[in-house]
Amino acid sequence: MQTESWGSIEEVVNAPVENVAGDATWLSVLCMWLTLPLNLIQGCIGGLCRFAMAFFVIGCYCCRCIPGWICCAAMASVKCGRPCILAPSWWRYVLGGFIALLANSRSRLALFIWEWEAFGKGDHYWHGEGYWSVTYEECSRITKSQQKRRSAFACIEACVPDLFASNILLFLPTGGPESEWAAIRKVLHAAMLDRGAYHYTERLQKLSSQIAAEWPEPKLTDFDDTEKLRLMVVKCVFFMIFGIWLDDNDALILRKWRDYAVFFVLPRLIHRFIFNFAIGRVKQLRVDTVGVIEKHGLQPMFVEMNKNLPEKYRRPTDVKLCDEIMFAVGFAGIGGTSACCETVGAFLQRKIPEEASAHLISFEKYPTTEDMLEAYKASPVKYIKESCRIDPPVTSATRVDPDERELLFKGIPYTMPPETLNQYVISMANRDTKIFENPDVFDPTRKELDQALTWNGAFGTPNEETVYPRICPGRFLALDVAQAIVGHVVGIKDDGRDARMFC
Ligand code: HEM
Repeated sequence: MQTESWGSIEEVVNAPVENVAGDATWLSVLCMWLTLPLNLIQGCIGGLCRFAMAFFVIGCYCCRCIPGWICCAAMASVKCGRPCILAPSWWRYVLGGFIALLANSRSRLALFIWEWEAFGKGDHYWHGEGYWSVTYEECSRITKSQQKRRSAFACIEACVPDLFASNILLFLPTGGPESEWAAIRKVLHAAMLDRGAYHYTERLQKLSSQIAAEWPEPKLTDFDDTEKLRLMVVKCVFFMIFGIWLDDNDALILRKWRDYAVFFVLPRLIHRFIFNFAIGRVKQLRVDTVGVIEKHGLQPMFVEMNKNLPEKYRRPTDVKLCDEIMFAVGFAGIGGTSACCETVGAFLQRKIPEEASAHLISFEKYPTTEDMLEAYKASPVKYIKESCRIDPPVTSATRVDPDERELLFKGIPYTMPPETLNQYVISMANRDTKIFENPDVFDPTRKELDQALTWNGAFGTPNEETVYPRICPGRFLALDVAQAIVGHVVGIKDDGRDARMFC
């Protein structure tokens, strides 16, 4: 099956690392280890006290008489290009962020709200290497715009090409039909995500019987077995895309795309601090993922996709494109759909999912599990969408702001230079009280449901691909798979029925 143009995945994942900031050099890591007790004490203070966290980021904000870089403030370090000399600002800041996450029940949304409060509850706050936008109005405007992007994720420079594959769709700027972003999106859609294709409909029809054959006598409490649930999502996503039902061994490999989710939000400094343990795991996962493709003889699909790209965007080897596309399938497809099914499975039992915070979700409208089941059966799509509005699988996304901007942190103006990273926070926009009435209350019947930005745009709007150019291309697949799995457990035979209304 191997062609000459296929290439080596080892060479792809072991290519020289890019954009390593001064504070993420091995010298900085060594000094961070040597001063660990001091950094931990400061990190605990910053992670438990909002006032200290804001100080770690913006420095002296009372009288502003001391320049940020003297205060060892993270924002000043970013403005100076993150030199090694200012690395101490990052040692305490990253530990503070980690402790704040633990203190907020490991819920990313709870952490975002805590940080937003630390910066004065305005329209923006700072985290990582950029500013975060929390209002629905701004997030909606960004999702409708032509976004500038670079290799950045979770508002920090991404570890490329060892953790993230280089050039993945997420890192490419939005552009017209001639752009690289449009070209990759087009081949991806045509080869894997076209709901109009005959093979898609055919596989969707077979999906429930495939699930049933492996999951006899399902019951609601089965959702508590997240490992099993994730395995099923892997098998379903792979089946829908490639028409192959994986055995447990192969599915266990691909399940790691969900299991390793937390690795992708860590900055290179932390990766090196833990001696690249997590990066090593992800590199192996990428190699093994390509191994699954090779084992099943699926290389021709990627060879064809690479051929179909305009010459200027063609990848030097086919395996490079395979790695990029499988990164999207694994990271966004398997990761996102697993998170979605885990949330729905928990909500049906009136439980709070692992990564969510109890005080941010109210089930008051559905006092019993039977009420929940009834709500699901009334409209599976609405139920899934509302679950993901309140607990989004993808909580935020990173772009580059091309313009200079003045923002208020703690009521004080700060200038953001052009090219500053900007995170638009979907999980907070989805709870903006200007749009969503009683946003903490789970209510699939709410009239504003389709305005939620969960899939990087208001899924359900007419011409959504035109209005929201970067809307998730896998949104229908995610809904189809989630409905098939949940439908099997709750006893709805004709899964896929509700999603097809969107065609
Ligand atoms: C419930 C499940 C899912 C959710 C909530 C979700 C949500 C999102 C969001 C918010 C983005 C924007 C991220 C960013 O720009 O940084 C995105 C992008 C993307 N998603 Fe999904 N997604 C899901 C499932 C899937 C599936 C099943 C696939 C395909 C197998 C997929 C493929 C992609 C791709 C390729 C992009 C990049 C699009 C671009 O940048 O133009 N997603 N998704």
